[in-house]
Amino acid sequence: MIRIRPTRFVVAGSLLTLIGVLTAPTMLEAQADALPDSVTPAMVAEGATLFQGAGICAACHGPDGTGLTGPDLTDDEWLHSDGSYESIVERILAGVPADSSKSGIPMLPKGGSQLTDAQVRLVAAYVWSLRLEEAP
Ligand code: HEC
Repeated sequence: MIRIRPTRFVVAGSLLTLIGVLTAPTMLEAQADALPDSVTPAMVAEGATLFQGAGICAACHGPDGTGLTGPDLTDDEWLHSDGSYESIVERILAGVPADSSKSGIPMLPKGGSQLTDAQVRLVAAYVWSLRLEEAP
């Protein structure tokens, strides 16, 4: 007969909590360290708001950027940039003309939104950061 010892579960549970507490701040620091020089965590946060709001990006790329009509922005594959922050800024400003779109669906400059160039830099900071969240 198998005897279950409840203490084992308690120990395992506490260990998991401890691991969570220890790794959470480290992951946040790692993300801040990995940001490009001109990008701050505050820009990423503001960019997220614009992505889901005034930028209307979420309508085509999904609320979390994983893609709908427009491509997944959280994966490692960049169709129209080299994945660097500046190249993502340029891509959003320029949009994707139909003749260079992989899916044949075009994206208007700034996604057709009324974002200012400064706001595009914020939204690009958020897009750039999406890949970090995918990392383990
Ligand atoms: C009307 C739908 C639509 C909207 C709105 C839209 N996009 Fe796009 N986006 C697309 C499509 C379609 C592509 C190119 C797909 C292809 O090549 O197959 C694209 C491509 C991109 C790319 C290039 C991806 C790559 O792999 O290189 C980025 C970055 C991007 N969009 C960001 C944004 C941001 C930021 C916004 C909001 C300001 C936005 N998009 C709004 C449809 C949209």
